[in-house]
Amino acid sequence: MQIVRTAAELRAARAALAGRVGFVPTMGALHAGHARLMEVAKKKADHLIVSIFVNPTQFGPNEDFTKYPRTEEADLALCEATGADIVFLPKATEIYRAEPLIRLAVDPKIAGVLCGAHRPGHFDGVAQVVAILFNLVRPHSACFGEKDYQQLAVLRRLADDLHFGIDIIPVPTVREPDGLALSSRNRYLSPEERAAAPAIYRAMLQCKSRADQIRFDRIAQPVAKVEEEGRALILKEIPGAQIDYFEIRHTDTLEPTQFIMNKSRLFAAVRVGTTRLIDNLLLGG
Ligand code: PAF
Repeated sequence: MQIVRTAAELRAARAALAGRVGFVPTMGALHAGHARLMEVAKKKADHLIVSIFVNPTQFGPNEDFTKYPRTEEADLALCEATGADIVFLPKATEIYRAEPLIRLAVDPKIAGVLCGAHRPGHFDGVAQVVAILFNLVRPHSACFGEKDYQQLAVLRRLADDLHFGIDIIPVPTVREPDGLALSSRNRYLSPEERAAAPAIYRAMLQCKSRADQIRFDRIAQPVAKVEEEGRALILKEIPGAQIDYFEIRHTDTLEPTQFIMNKSRLFAAVRVGTTRLIDNLLLGG
């Protein structure tokens, strides 16, 4: 496994790889969810490149950029164990020009809802860094987790709109045995918060079975009622939880839907203490 830190080193190492290259961009603090992304990427390509870069442009001024966990040694061990060929660990100055002329702005139709409504500019920063990384790495495919479903939707459009010719491969969410979706931010939770957090997934499963029943009975039940029941369960089971959103939307367009349908997806963002957790679940078939 080659560890490279500059764009020039990356280019040289990339040029030496023959065959298909799979790519997994990350911000480090790697866990079993990232390992799954790497395994899938590796299966679909001859070589695997992983990037580890805590991207400043996707954090808001009051967010956790400085305290975001940085665990380089453990991250490199995981990359080695999953058979990465190259790990790219750039400094911000390798990625961003001092005064960039071009800044990507993602359509608010997709970037202004859900997490985008609570984290203004977040998806612009994600699109910017991923576009730069795609240009540097020049992969054939790239894997992204479905846990960050809105990010996946934005990046699918990025790859298509800018004609990158890169296959965007979605990878299902990896969960703890109690249902909590794996996230680098789970390590911020206190033991009490960690014990309470799986109530988010339980509320989502409750909504899924309500949705299945509604579809089975062919009732035209407005989604608001189903959302309300899920929110109530979270507020009951997680002391002091703050729900940023708990909403049912169309899985492709992310637009709200009035009734449960085949392509309905439930999206949740909940603050447990100071930690913001997100998750989502397909409700329809
Ligand atoms: O999902 C992440 O870890 C980040 O948003 C990404 C895609 C690596 C861009 O910084």
